[in-house]
Amino acid sequence: MATERDQIKNEVKEAADIVEVVGEYVALKKTGVRFSGLCPFHAEKTPSFTVNPQGQFFHCFGCGESGDVFSFLMKYHHFDFPEALQAMAKKYGIALPEKELSEAEKARLRQRDALYAANEAASTVYRQGLLHMKWGQIARKYLEERGIPAEFTERYRLGYAPEPEQAGWSYLIDQLGSKGLSPQVLETAGLAVRNDRGGYYDRFRGRIMFPLLDMTGRLAAFGGRIVGQGKPKYMNSPESPIFDKSRLLYGLFQHREAIRRQRRALVVEGNFDLLLLAVHGIDHVVAPLGTALSRSHIHTLRGYGEEVVLLFDADAAGLKAAMRSVPFFLQEKIEGRVALLPPGHDPDSYVREHGPEAIVRLVEQARPLAEFAFDTLVRTHGLTLSGKSRIIGELSPLLAAAADPGQRALMIAHFSEKMGISPGYFTSGQPLATSATANKATSAGSCLQQMSRQERQLIDFLLNYPEYLTELKAAGLDEIVREPLVRRIIALLDQRDDNDDSSYPERLLSAATHADERSYIVELLTRGTGTELDPGIDNPGRHACDEILVWLESIRCKRVGADLQQRIQEAERLGNIEMLMQLMQEKKEIGKKRKGS
Ligand code: UTP
Ligand code: MN
Repeated sequence: MATERDQIKNEVKEAADIVEVVGEYVALKKTGVRFSGLCPFHAEKTPSFTVNPQGQFFHCFGCGESGDVFSFLMKYHHFDFPEALQAMAKKYGIALPEKELSEAEKARLRQRDALYAANEAASTVYRQGLLHMKWGQIARKYLEERGIPAEFTERYRLGYAPEPEQAGWSYLIDQLGSKGLSPQVLETAGLAVRNDRGGYYDRFRGRIMFPLLDMTGRLAAFGGRIVGQGKPKYMNSPESPIFDKSRLLYGLFQHREAIRRQRRALVVEGNFDLLLLAVHGIDHVVAPLGTALSRSHIHTLRGYGEEVVLLFDADAAGLKAAMRSVPFFLQEKIEGRVALLPPGHDPDSYVREHGPEAIVRLVEQARPLAEFAFDTLVRTHGLTLSGKSRIIGELSPLLAAAADPGQRALMIAHFSEKMGISPGYFTSGQPLATSATANKATSAGSCLQQMSRQERQLIDFLLNYPEYLTELKAAGLDEIVREPLVRRIIALLDQRDDNDDSSYPERLLSAATHADERSYIVELLTRGTGTELDPGIDNPGRHACDEILVWLESIRCKRVGADLQQRIQEAERLGNIEMLMQLMQEKKEIGKKRKGS
């Protein structure tokens, strides 16, 4: 099964042209053998994003992102691999084999499709409800009073679920029933509720309906606000196989381009806050759905902009929400800032009263989250001795959440200076100690940092002159090289078919398990011949190979020498004179050989 999957993957990949695909999202210019443009994954003014048509990969020299056509789509659209494959197969007219899926998987897919279809159908009905001459009147008036023009109700597909007095308790169920949708499907979608007697009634009644789109634009759920007063004020679809409220952000799909352009996302708390900002031309904004901002929300936003600015109410809830999100920003390594609205305001009321410029000013003045957290703590605990120790206690989990040691050290320096205490106070705590070991484990993943200059040269050489591999292997390359990345590359070069190396760069890339390793390889591949080689030499490959042979030999000698030394010590410890003499003799010979070479 795996091979069939690989086969189809390769087929799609062969059909796909990375220049064409990336070109849909990035304005590319031909520069030599490559294409270049502004990187869609980080903000830049001069192009450092390149697409290599020969190798069918992209690489950004600015941020280090790289990969093939699939990884591009995964990163750009937040697709998983099957989604990227599907999109490409569809674009290039390649049929994906159905039977790859198990029966259970197929049933799951069918169910998801049915749920999306139910939501789409419901959205049409709600839309009709809003436009209905009599039923929709109060809702339309309400939206108008709240400052949402008809153009915007259309753009955000706002709707209205009529009151039972207007249309009965099962209006939606009946409407969709006549289109062949069962109440059971509507129940799973969260649109219908089952009563004690086994009948069904509409979940949403007498509410303005907000379609909630997922990151690919599919209608995953609804939010519904009561028209005027009443409880509960807001009601959202319950979670379902297509709706995870800790991931979904209202407005992200509609605003993703604006967020990319502005390189920043604003986060507001309410649906109307988002709409009113959009009405006033501020459309790089998203809203969680009445839940706290989660780590996956932040993770999602990270793919779109460089920083996230929280525009929260100045009440206790807003403050708490901002504080709670601090560790997520640290873990996801994205810049977070926060601006609290003046008391009594939310972004909706503020933008209506003071206009978009006032919001822009607030955003400009937004403070870095870590500082904000610190000031909040100072206000709560004071800077007395006991206040300070409480602050240290509350900051510790924040510091522990910092994604890397450098970031943590900076924060510690910052906070300790602010409090006039020694940084040591922070590092003595328990949570810090555990997080330090955790970080060590993750950073050990990439081999690049530990690689010696010679090993880097070796990779550089092998990528450019793979024909010397056999000779180097005969000289004992395999025993000498211990770095996992180098070993993986050697293994790949070994399998290489000189007559067909079209997928060679990708296979090399897949050998690298870390982003920095991948960008390192891409850099070597795109830069061409290693810079260390002197072009003035007749046969630079031969020359470099000879140097590497010398290096291999010296390493071998060193290792044999070290091994001998250990055995000599062992012999001394045991008092085995005969053995000692023999080992000393061996050592002398190696020394001679080393000097001679
Ligand atoms: P708020 O209570 O702050 O309301 O809820 P708001 O956005 O100012 O509401 P309006 O302006 O009176 O219409 C913020 C968000 O929290 C969720 C909704 O998504 C809302 O937009 N919420 C609120 C709920 O899910 N349920 C509720 O009962 C209230
Ligand atoms: Mn409000």
